[in-house]
Amino acid sequence: MNIDNLIKAAVDKTLNENGLINHRKKESPAESNVVNNSINESYVIQAGKFNLQTELLSTKTKKAHQELLEGYVKKLNEVAIKLDGSDKSSANLNNSEFRSLKVDEAYNHNAAFLHGLYFENISDLNSQISVDSISYMRLARDFGTFDKWQEDFVACCLSARNGWAVTFYNEQLNRYMNTIIDLHSLNVMIGMHPVIVVDCWEHSYYRDYLKDRKSYVFAMMKELDWSVIDKRVIKANEIAKILRS
Ligand SMILES: [Fe+2]
Repeated sequence: MNIDNLIKAAVDKTLNENGLINHRKKESPAESNVVNNSINESYVIQAGKFNLQTELLSTKTKKAHQELLEGYVKKLNEVAIKLDGSDKSSANLNNSEFRSLKVDEAYNHNAAFLHGLYFENISDLNSQISVDSISYMRLARDFGTFDKWQEDFVACCLSARNGWAVTFYNEQLNRYMNTIIDLHSLNVMIGMHPVIVVDCWEHSYYRDYLKDRKSYVFAMMKELDWSVIDKRVIKANEIAKILRS
């Protein structure tokens, strides 16, 4: 398998694990022989369908949120195609189409993947975490106690503007941290491997909780799917081992 295929396989695996399916544009024979074997910029992804069982969100909110995810995915695909045909020779930092598209790409990319991560790690009606699970042990190790992680994470949920609270493995510091992301792409720390994601945009709770974001956050945390989170932590552990080998 050549390097292009290896990269494509890794990207497809990540997309599938995040509930997003990659339908990479098929290369024509001419494209597959481009100089340096560079990968074409254009890509197409498809939104996963999430059937949330929780009763802590209304049917209307769940339906509207799924549709919102599909809208972000559609926009991301449109941006990817436009980037593919954009004029790179006129790129500049003031007003170029290329620059605008790259900003839009990050915004819609994060919107699509953060929603996928969020829908996957909520709505477990039998949510429970055991003290000997890998998630519990890592969070307790890096925050002092599990309760301190929880306190810090709730503070992040209440601090994000229209944005996100994320627990992530920080490959720079080799530890778990909490952070806030405003909108979808502001304040994103590098080296992030998200393991717990909660949507704190008003659209995720206002219909059901009005201004009471705290009750919404507690409701989501009550039904976190720790089996999904454990898998993400195990994956982050593997990444940590590779980075430090
Ligand atoms: Fe959302």
